[in-house]
Amino acid sequence: MRQANTKSRPVRSFVRREGRMTTAQKRALADLWAIYGIDDDATPVDEHLFGDPRDLTLEIGFGDGDTLVTMASEEPERGFIGIDPHRPGAGRTLLQLERASIDNVRVIIGDGAQLLPQLITSASLARVLVLFPDPWPKKRHHKRRLLNPEFLQMISDKLKPAGTLHIATDWAEYAGEILIAIESTPGLVNATGVGQFAIKPKWRPTTKYERRGLKLGHSVFDIAAIRK
Ligand SMILES: C[S@@+](CC[C@H](N)C(=O)[O-])C[C@H]1O[C@@H](n2cnc3c(N)ncnc32)[C@H](O)[C@@H]1O
Repeated sequence: MRQANTKSRPVRSFVRREGRMTTAQKRALADLWAIYGIDDDATPVDEHLFGDPRDLTLEIGFGDGDTLVTMASEEPERGFIGIDPHRPGAGRTLLQLERASIDNVRVIIGDGAQLLPQLITSASLARVLVLFPDPWPKKRHHKRRLLNPEFLQMISDKLKPAGTLHIATDWAEYAGEILIAIESTPGLVNATGVGQFAIKPKWRPTTKYERRGLKLGHSVFDIAAIRK
């Protein structure tokens, strides 16, 4: 009799569609990884990642890297980490970092749900950003949504006391779901008040996906949470 396969594969919040990598992106990953990359088996990082202790911002799902690079150049005294599984986007980001001589960013390639628990020391992040996470609009795909209670609990563990989590989405129903999940995460509190969305902060750049959503007539929902 055949045994049923009891090993369940993790449900991913992304589909691995690498797309085409340009020669420049391939060169960047090969040559610049030693400078900007954090390997998935690295020692957990903390606020000493850049030597001197610094406030660290983590951007989960940095996409093409524009937001990460902009924020890092505007706040050179802070440290930034980006994570995304999409390699061409990571290659593009490394190129931008090299061209702009930015040295306060490190990049992880992979799944945040899988890698962050082991790569980031507890209570070491000052700010976490998740901007326009894939909305997975079909009901049967909702289980793929990144911002679920388990993920938020893990992020809460990585934030310092009074550290902040900032989220933005143009998907109204997902925004409501995130608000409820945050308010039921023991370590987090909605910074704007129960049931309230936040105003877009000045420091948050407008992202590529945000521009796309706005063109389609979507509203944008910002959510700000604080680590208790
Ligand atoms: C809709 S795009 C938004 C990109 C960018 N933040 C923006 O607003 O333009 C979502 C991004 O999240 C990334 N992503 C999806 N699941 C992820 C995960 N588990 N860990 C890290 N990044 C993830 C995707 O690869 C993609 O780049």
